[in-house]
Amino acid sequence: MLPLLLLLLFSLLFSSGSADSSCKDLFRISVSCAFQQLNNSNIQNYINPSNPFYKTLNSTQLRTPEVNFTSDCHITMYCDNGSSILTFDDTGLGKMYNSPIATGECDPTTREVTMLIQDPSENEFTYTQLLGTCLVKEKCECTAIALDSLNIGGFIDSTSPFYSQMTSSDSKLPFISVSGCTTSMICGPGYSLLLFDDTGLGKVFETLSVSGQCIAKTNKWKVDTGSRVRLTTFNQMYGICVVNDSGNPPAVSTSTTIPTTTTVDTNCTPSSLITVVYAYSNDLDAEEFSDYWNLEHSQQNPENLVRLWIKYANIDLTLLTKTVYSITTLGSNELGQSVTARLPDPSLGFNTSATGSDVLKFIEVPTISSSHRIEKFADNTEAPLCGARMFICVKRYPNEVNIDRLVAKLRAHHILLHIYVTDTPTGGLHSETLYDLASRTNGMCMFYEDAGSLKWDVNKRGQNLFYATNPKVSGRGSVQLPVPQKEVMAGCEFHIVVEDGPLKFFEGVNLSWKYSSSSEPMVQGVGLMYFFNYGVIDLWYGDSLSNLSMQYSYSDEKVRTVQVRLYSYDKLSSWPAYED
Ligand SMILES: *[C@@H]1O[C@H](CO)[C@@H](O)[C@H](O)[C@H]1NC(C)=O
Ligand SMILES: *[C@@H]1O[C@H](CO)[C@@H](O)[C@H](O)[C@H]1NC(C)=O
Ligand SMILES: *[C@@H]1O[C@H](CO)[C@@H](O)[C@H](O)[C@H]1NC(C)=O
Ligand SMILES: *[C@@H]1O[C@H](CO)[C@@H](O)[C@H](O)[C@H]1NC(C)=O
Ligand SMILES: *[C@@H]1O[C@H](CO)[C@@H](O)[C@H](O)[C@H]1NC(C)=O
Ligand SMILES: *[C@@H]1O[C@H](CO)[C@@H](O)[C@H](O)[C@H]1NC(C)=O
Ligand SMILES: *[C@@H]1O[C@H](CO)[C@@H](O)[C@H](O)[C@H]1NC(C)=O
Ligand SMILES: *[C@@H]1O[C@H](CO)[C@@H](O)[C@H](O)[C@H]1NC(C)=O
Repeated sequence: MLPLLLLLLFSLLFSSGSADSSCKDLFRISVSCAFQQLNNSNIQNYINPSNPFYKTLNSTQLRTPEVNFTSDCHITMYCDNGSSILTFDDTGLGKMYNSPIATGECDPTTREVTMLIQDPSENEFTYTQLLGTCLVKEKCECTAIALDSLNIGGFIDSTSPFYSQMTSSDSKLPFISVSGCTTSMICGPGYSLLLFDDTGLGKVFETLSVSGQCIAKTNKWKVDTGSRVRLTTFNQMYGICVVNDSGNPPAVSTSTTIPTTTTVDTNCTPSSLITVVYAYSNDLDAEEFSDYWNLEHSQQNPENLVRLWIKYANIDLTLLTKTVYSITTLGSNELGQSVTARLPDPSLGFNTSATGSDVLKFIEVPTISSSHRIEKFADNTEAPLCGARMFICVKRYPNEVNIDRLVAKLRAHHILLHIYVTDTPTGGLHSETLYDLASRTNGMCMFYEDAGSLKWDVNKRGQNLFYATNPKVSGRGSVQLPVPQKEVMAGCEFHIVVEDGPLKFFEGVNLSWKYSSSSEPMVQGVGLMYFFNYGVIDLWYGDSLSNLSMQYSYSDEKVRTVQVRLYSYDKLSSWPAYED
């Protein structure tokens, strides 16, 4: 939605509408309410170039809206199919409608048009002069591909002077973020984006983020290359993050963005003994949770449990002060009993929906050392923090949004979160905080309908995570993903979480990959699990991958993060890198 428009230039023109009802006469003859139908040829006369939206409006395809009056002083401005109406006036008040029709009422005495509102929660507003135009929704189909040393081969000639730099294994995939016809490519600190196309045009940018505007008519990109005067046309946006030679070299672990203030636990290496923590909200339905727990617990292969974990901790996600905390080092059976003995209990929870969940404090507990609970967890030798896995069922959203510090702590200890978030919270404001937290720590954040649906997803406890990436997507398109570096993919599972819970705009996501020994690309749709924003693809070939991309489709244009993870039962040799 366009915010207020600042219109400084205003010239009064009147309709040439001809009609014989009294109100139409008011418009035409007594000039009670003025309006103007605008398109690309006349909008410059109504909006000042200093207006921040001038550039957008002036370069967007606009059509002239139609206008209808009725005798009771109703005025309707409407657009063709496929375009939406934007109305504004000379005072700076503007509204972008998501529909092609805007209606208002003319007051012949004040000469103002009051726009009628469809949604009662919206403001009513009145224009001194009704200016309207139709924004044509453009179909932009330009090519943007994120490259790194592994997939750049087909895009660059070995005679290119950039060849060695671009094929260097130090180069990294940029993130692609798409919003409408604008696409941005973003590199991490210590890197520079090199953007090029198939004509040999290329530029290394000084900024971390570069945006291109896809021009629908030409299907080519207009990219701001820094010279303010003109935009440069690129046939394609092929982007790669190369090490910024002029700056400081990137940190050793190239894709982690652990803040420098964080102490990385160097003793924390992938080991066979890790702690599993279960935390669940007291707001959950005890019976549904118990059903889930019994199933989850019975599905774990005892062999894997023995091999992977000898320690358990189980903690109620308690609210307020009544924390129940216990660690059991005994075994799978004791874990089961321990949870069963502490099923969710609403009487221990918050009693108002305004209170946010204390889940973030709870997650942080194991990693800071000031409160009672921490000492118990962090100081104990029974339940090590390194590589701990936390399964968290949330029924209430947190109110916090700033998670940078928490992210750094979780990364330092390689703590992995599997968060289950309900679509029907008992309180709190920000479910996206949990999603971001999981994204940035290689975890997953699944939305579920009710505790009864939890039992559809019970299988990740025994597997190791060895690959994680967070492509940013918007609308429909395709994004190149970093290629997993694993010799044998057989037995691996892609776990894909799509950001959109409750599912409203999500339409579909496919993974496409190539096995190294085959030229045939494989494509598989991600079937979402029952009630979840989450699906799994199993891999069967004993071969490595040479190319991996994801096709996605959302019915709106919001930028979202998809959590792409690879799990297997194989032993982990190093921690997968982090991405924001
Ligand atoms: C734009 O609007 C002007 C004035 O209403 C009209 O004369 C002209 O034909 C319109 N141009 C297009 C392309 O619709
Ligand atoms: C606005 O659009 C007009 C007509 O298309 C064009 O001549 C003019 O250069 C544009 N101005 C800017 C600042 O883009
Ligand atoms: C505008 O008026 C014409 C003629 O009366 C009518 O056919 C058309 O449906 C009206 N359009 C709208 C959007 O009201
Ligand atoms: C709008 O366009 C769609 C698809 O092009 C078409 O099916 C529909 O009938 C159109 N509606 C109107 C009112 O023209
Ligand atoms: C990787 O796959 C994508 C999508 O199928 C394709 O467009 C691209 O050309 C492939 N890249 C290489 C290097 O094969
Ligand atoms: C590259 O390093 C130079 C020198 O430190 C710095 O000015 C520039 O901003 C850096 N570029 C990027 C993209 O980080
Ligand atoms: C919530 O519970 C506490 C303790 O039982 C009580 O003092 C408080 O008034 C309750 N608040 C509401 C809003 O019910
Ligand atoms: C996934 O692949 C199927 C079959 O090829 C195709 O119909 C569908 O449109 C694809 N989905 C996306 C999001 O590209």
